Amino acid sequence: MATLEIRDLHVTVEADNATKEILKGVDLTVKQGETHAIMGPNGSGKSTLAYSLAGHPKYTITGGTVTLDGEDVLEMSVDERARAGLFLAMQYPVEVPGVSVSNFLRTSATAIRGEAPKLRTWVKEVKEAMQRLNMDPSFAERNVNEGFSGGEKKRHEILQLELLKPKVAILDETDSGLDVDALRIVSEGVNRVRETGEVGTLLITHYTRILRYIKPDFVHVFADGRIAESGGAELADKLENEGYEAYTKGGVSA
Ligand SMILES: Nc1ncnc2c1ncn2[C@@H]1O[C@H](COP(=O)(O)OP(=O)(O)O)[C@@H](O)[C@H]1O
Ligand SMILES: [Mg+2]
Repeated sequence: MATLEIRDLHVTVEADNATKEILKGVDLTVKQGETHAIMGPNGSGKSTLAYSLAGHPKYTITGGTVTLDGEDVLEMSVDERARAGLFLAMQYPVEVPGVSVSNFLRTSATAIRGEAPKLRTWVKEVKEAMQRLNMDPSFAERNVNEGFSGGEKKRHEILQLELLKPKVAILDETDSGLDVDALRIVSEGVNRVRETGEVGTLLITHYTRILRYIKPDFVHVFADGRIAESGGAELADKLENEGYEAYTKGGVSA
């Protein structure tokens, strides 16, 4: 079983000519087949964790380790991370002008599988995955994220997730900007991937809403750059009732 291990991760960013520590010692282990939810107030550093795992150049790792199956993730290029089986869906995905969804997916699948998927089976695979997500076939010919609505961006993420079959998937605010129908479709996609038992999922979210559709095995509360508390699904119920106040005393910006 593949395991993502984050140990005592410290991360800084440069802002206003100053170095600011955002992650202050994150410890987390995600195994293939497990679903973890990271929840926490705005500004607590959840997206910073996702960007740091993605290898975004803006975020400097100043301490700690991240390994996938014992391999040093922090030493890997962005491409190598994807090939190693890490999948990252960002809160604000970038546009890729001139590259269609269909080409993007095939290029990604080729990079990850080590060979180009056979065209005929691939076309069928994509079509079926799109049907499951209630996506119009014409979507495959649009440019990646160009003019996508919030719901389309999120469906596109889940489409990638289903087709690329990573070992560990990190989904940052996959629920944001979704109406109830889109939320259900996206959640069903995550649950389908989960049922294969082959993907470890780290679901980052501010709201408890998506956890009505996806039941996490573990819930972690993120506050001021680290995990303040961990528990089972019942912790999400507590957060739904009580909010994050208990974790933000002492001045985390909300
Ligand atoms: N690229 C960046 N430049 C400057 N500050 C940043 C950057 N990324 C994050 N921060 C700061 O780090 C803190 C955590 O932000 P973020 O990780 O986006 O939190 P969350 O996703 O939990 O809302 C915030 O104070 C934010 O302003
Ligand atoms: Mg965020």
